[in-house]
Amino acid sequence: MRVYKVKNYDEMSRQAAGIIASMITLNPACVLGLATGSTPEGIYRELIKGYNNGDLDFSEVKSVNLDEYQGLDPNNDQSYYYYMTDKLFNHVNIKKENYHLPNGLAEDAAKECARYDEIIKSLGGVDLQLLGIGINGHIGFNEPSEKLEKDVHLAKLTESTINANARFFKSYDDIPKHAFTMGVRTIMSARKIVLAASGKSKAEIMPAVINGPITTAVPASLLQLHPDVTIIADEDALSLL
Ligand code: GLP
Repeated sequence: MRVYKVKNYDEMSRQAAGIIASMITLNPACVLGLATGSTPEGIYRELIKGYNNGDLDFSEVKSVNLDEYQGLDPNNDQSYYYYMTDKLFNHVNIKKENYHLPNGLAEDAAKECARYDEIIKSLGGVDLQLLGIGINGHIGFNEPSEKLEKDVHLAKLTESTINANARFFKSYDDIPKHAFTMGVRTIMSARKIVLAASGKSKAEIMPAVINGPITTAVPASLLQLHPDVTIIADEDALSLL
């Protein structure tokens, strides 16, 4: 695990975007694993800058997202599909047929999980997986638990995550309680992983991720077992380390 401590959110965004940009330059047809949340927004802004100034070409890039809420229409502004098109895909030349997210409206959840697993396999796996981190140590929607799921699955969100998401929804009933997510094996199979973290709210979990025992109680601690993980975190996120 390489840990880069940067000053603040903007520096985190530039550094992480720099790694993704290098991947695209070295392998223009790379498969990116993408994440949502407030953390990667600045990273996506930097990638759009790179595209606009002619340094980056997304025409052959493929992407698969980590997760999607169950029950949200892609046009719902809280869906991860909406987020990705709004914050990245609509602003670069990635082809629509080349980006993938789980379908939150799928009627048969088991079938949807199998379909999404198959897409990732058919692309040859993920070259670079971008991750944020939940305040409870979740990655994607692999929540702290006695056991973790390997492959794409429908996850039940914990109260901690539901509460963390409350700010984005009008009422408690509107907050999704389940989400489709890559499993831990899916994430760990990525050839390279970049985890970005910013802000004081992440300070408590970061020592457990980086130095803590490897435990399903902190799903991100499993990343210690991966051969190529880069953590880019700002001073606030690393303030308890
Ligand atoms: C959600 C996402 C995660 C993300 C986390 C943290 O739960 N499923 O992939 O890492 O939120 O979000 P934020 O970056 O807004 O702190």
